Amino acid sequence: MKQYKLKDNYNNHILEKLEKLRDDDLVSFHVPGHKIGRIFKELGYKSILENIYTLDTTEIDGTDNLHNAKEIIKDSQERAARIFNSDKTIYLVNGTTCGIEAAIMAVCNPNSKIIVNRDCHQSVINACILGDIEPIYIASKVCKKTNIITGVDVEETKKIIDNNLDAKAIVLTYPTYYGKTFDLKSICDYAHSKNMLVIIDEAHGAHLQLSDKLPKSAINQGADIIIQSTHKTLPAFTQSSMMHIKGNSVDENKIKSILRFLESSSPSYILLSSLELAVDIYDKYGTSLMENLLIYIEKFKSKFKNNENIMIDNNMDKTKIFISMKKLGITGYELDSILREEYKIQVELSNYYGVLLICTIGNNEEDFITLEESLEDLLMKIDKKKLLKDTSYPEDIPQKVLNPRDAFYSDKITVKLEDSIGKISGEYIIPYPPGISLISPGEIITQEIITYIQQGVKSGMIVSGVKDVNLEYIDIIDINKNYF
Ligand SMILES: Cc1ncc(COP(=O)(O)O)c(C=O)c1O
Repeated sequence: MKQYKLKDNYNNHILEKLEKLRDDDLVSFHVPGHKIGRIFKELGYKSILENIYTLDTTEIDGTDNLHNAKEIIKDSQERAARIFNSDKTIYLVNGTTCGIEAAIMAVCNPNSKIIVNRDCHQSVINACILGDIEPIYIASKVCKKTNIITGVDVEETKKIIDNNLDAKAIVLTYPTYYGKTFDLKSICDYAHSKNMLVIIDEAHGAHLQLSDKLPKSAINQGADIIIQSTHKTLPAFTQSSMMHIKGNSVDENKIKSILRFLESSSPSYILLSSLELAVDIYDKYGTSLMENLLIYIEKFKSKFKNNENIMIDNNMDKTKIFISMKKLGITGYELDSILREEYKIQVELSNYYGVLLICTIGNNEEDFITLEESLEDLLMKIDKKKLLKDTSYPEDIPQKVLNPRDAFYSDKITVKLEDSIGKISGEYIIPYPPGISLISPGEIITQEIITYIQQGVKSGMIVSGVKDVNLEYIDIIDINKNYF
C-alpha cells in the first residue's frame, strides 16, 4: 500500500515539528503524564493506540453520549468514580478549564460572590466573567527563596469566610502547581459549617491517591467538587480531565447543562477512550508504579543533599521537583534551556530562581539517572560563581475596582506600559506557565507589577493574556466611556 507523506503535498509545520520532537527522544519531566507515550508501550496498550484513528467516531447507535450518558460512557465514568473514591465522576474533554468554569457557574448565580485564592487559574476569573460573579480574593503566601506560591493561610481563609458569609462557595487550588499543600480539611469543615460549598482545582493532583506518602486528595478531605487534569499527572491525552462530585449538596444536572455550553456537542471519543485507559492503568498498575517512582525520586534527591550549589525544594507532593542553581548565578530560565539544549531534558516550567519537574508513573529509573548525570556534568562545568540579583514576586493583591465582567465589557484605550501605572487594567498579565495572573481586568496596575514583569521578560519570562506580545502597550479601561 502506498505510504503518503504530507510533506510531499505541502509543508505541514505542526506534524513536522511534532515528529522531530518525538525523534529527539527527550527525557520528559513535563506534562502530559504518559511521557511521550512511553507508558502505553511499556504496559502493553500500544496496539490499541496504534489503531486509535479507527476508533474516532461520533454519537451513533451504541456509542452513547457524553452529555447524556446512559450506556458505555456511564459505565466507564462509574468505574472511575469507584476507583477515585468519588460519588459521581464526569469525564471532561475540554480540560479542567471547562470543569472549573462549569462548577463555579452551576453553584453561583449572576451577581453572587465566590471566595477564591488570588493565584487561581485563569479559568476561575473567566467563570466570573461568564457568570457575572464577584470574586473575593484570598492572598496566597510566597516563598522568598524560590518565588513559589505556597498556598493560602488557613486562618486568613477562615477570616475571609467570616467576612463574606453571603458567598455561595469557596474555590481553592490544591495542591499548587509546585506541589504545595495546606490543611484543606479544616477549611472544608469551616466552609461547610457556614453553608458554603467547596470547589477544588486539583488540576495537579489526579495521582495523589496512589500513595500514602503523598498528600491526601481533596476527594478525601471533604471537598464537594474536585476537578483533576488526568492528562497532567496520569497517562491520558491532553485535554482529558475528570470532575468528581462528593455527597449530594451539588446540583449535578446544572453542572451538566453548563458543560453542554462549554464543551463540544461532538465530544472526542479518542479523549474519552484515553480517560478510560488512564483509569485502567491507574487501577491495575498505579500503586506499584508510584511506589517505584517515589524511590527513584528519593535516590535522586539524596545525591544532591549536601551539595551547596544546587537546591532541591522539599514539596509535600514529592512528584514535583523544584531545582535551583541560584547560588551559581544561573536563572531558572537559563537552566531550563541548558537542560533542553545540552542534555535533552524537558522540564515543565521555569521561574527566575529555578525549574519545576513534573514526575509521573510514566517516568522510569533511567530518566532519573540521566537527570542526575546531567546535573553533575553541569555542576562540574560551571567554575565561576556569579551573583544573581534578587527579585521578589509581587505579594500584594492588586486593588479590584471593577468586577471582571464589568471590566471585560468596558471600552478600553491602549497606553504605553509605563503610563498604565495607577490605571484600571483592561487585560490580563499572566506569566505562563504557571498561568496565574498578576493583573486581571478591573484591577489597578502598580509599579511593583510592571517592574516585576519587565525584569522577568528581560531574563526569559513568557507573558500571555496581553494583546501586545512585546509588552510595550497595554489596554486600560476608558473611564469616560464605560459599560458598568
Ligand atoms: C492550577 C491549574 N488549574 C487549572 C488548569 C487548567 O487545566 P487544563 O489544562 O486541564 O484545562 C491548569 C493548567 O495548567 C492549572 O495549572
